[in-house]
Amino acid sequence: MESHLKLIFSPEEIHLAVNGLASEIRRDYAGKVPLLIGVLKGSFIFLADLIRTLKMPLEVDFIRTVSYGSGDVSSGDVKITKDIDADIENRDVLVVEDIVDTGLTLDGIFRHLQAKNPASLKVCALVDKRARRELPVKIDYSGFRVKEGFLAGYGLDYNEKYRYLPGLYIVK
Ligand code: PRP
Repeated sequence: MESHLKLIFSPEEIHLAVNGLASEIRRDYAGKVPLLIGVLKGSFIFLADLIRTLKMPLEVDFIRTVSYGSGDVSSGDVKITKDIDADIENRDVLVVEDIVDTGLTLDGIFRHLQAKNPASLKVCALVDKRARRELPVKIDYSGFRVKEGFLAGYGLDYNEKYRYLPGLYIVK
């Protein structure tokens, strides 16, 4: 492993966290067919593991945003570059994020989806990272809470690298 990567959550710990989230979601959406919306690209591995663990009737869609800014500093301007395909009016929608950092992305997505009149709109994030939070977004289901640090692995990238790693790492 590259020396500037420090493991913070092993594949086994992630597996346990996904199991816990799936239990909560399965209980809360019993009898419903939720639409899970993955936020590209970072959430693709988490979403894939989550839906296979859920083992319940559901549908999947994707949304993609870019936030403008330099480096890892967001400017607060969130733009949707790929919208969902589904009609979500009166649907039970669950947004699936890999990580919530400043909250700007999630806030933008939430407002965009809320305007389409879903029956319910909730958020599941694998990692809730709070040190740089700028907007008070509500996360209904979160796997890990971390204070700070740049995370990579399990779908998350550092300059497009490391998405393939099965664990979650801090980039030093
Ligand atoms: C990451 C992550 C969230 C967003 C969170 O995406 O997947 O969508 O940043 O940051 P925020 O709370 O500060 O808005 P990123 O822009 O790195 O794109 P990617 O998922 O394609 O890697």
